[in-house]
Amino acid sequence: MDIKLYLTPAPFGEIDLESKTAVVIDVLRCTTSVCAALMAGARGVIPVTGPGEAGDVWARIGSDMGVLAGEQNGIRIENFQLGNSPAEFTPESVGGKFVVMTTTNGTAAFVRARKADLVLSCGLVNVSRVAGRVAGENRDTVIICAGREGQFSIEDTICGGRLIDLLISEHQREVTLNDAASLAVLLYHNSRSAMKKAVAESEHGRYLASIGFAHDLETAARVDSMPVLPVMKDGRLILDGD
Ligand code: MLT
Repeated sequence: MDIKLYLTPAPFGEIDLESKTAVVIDVLRCTTSVCAALMAGARGVIPVTGPGEAGDVWARIGSDMGVLAGEQNGIRIENFQLGNSPAEFTPESVGGKFVVMTTTNGTAAFVRARKADLVLSCGLVNVSRVAGRVAGENRDTVIICAGREGQFSIEDTICGGRLIDLLISEHQREVTLNDAASLAVLLYHNSRSAMKKAVAESEHGRYLASIGFAHDLETAARVDSMPVLPVMKDGRLILDGD
């Protein structure tokens, strides 16, 4: 299996995604929140690229079936019901509803990944579920780290490294890696016994803590604590099998 990891989504627009699996990673916090929303009983999460598009999609779905969620600079967008803290996605807030979500980096990466045959949402919280599906597909895979405003994010890369390590060590897949994927595996091995620390000490982790979201860092660093598999179908992230 050929695995190419992209440290940021920038070069990724040029990539041919036909017949490939695409895995989007945004540990802080988009892909963690996607898992939290589906765990809480949301019918699906619809990633969109900005507040304007979010409002349009939400208006089409209807306020009884849709919830607007998203952040700018980590803070809930004005007039949105929810921000992007995984703690906000509860059965009361999203149960039975579609979450229309826009975030600075994560949702844009999903929108760009749409052309792949299969798109999966991955955080540390569900990385083993994603590895199982990628191993089962056994085809060329592109891992897109959402990063932060075009810059590399260490927590996304560590998560990508964990995913690749599982494919090799647990699922015994033969893989060829690009250099960024090899780097991700090295980073993962370097931080595997101190995942919480790595997430908390990341640039985005420190920023989120400074604006009052330290609790989200702990949630996002808990490996396999939300064992769901969000897959994209018709532009919506839904639970595999739904
Ligand atoms: C993003 O997509 O940029 C993030 O999820 C930002 C955040 O809410 O921490």
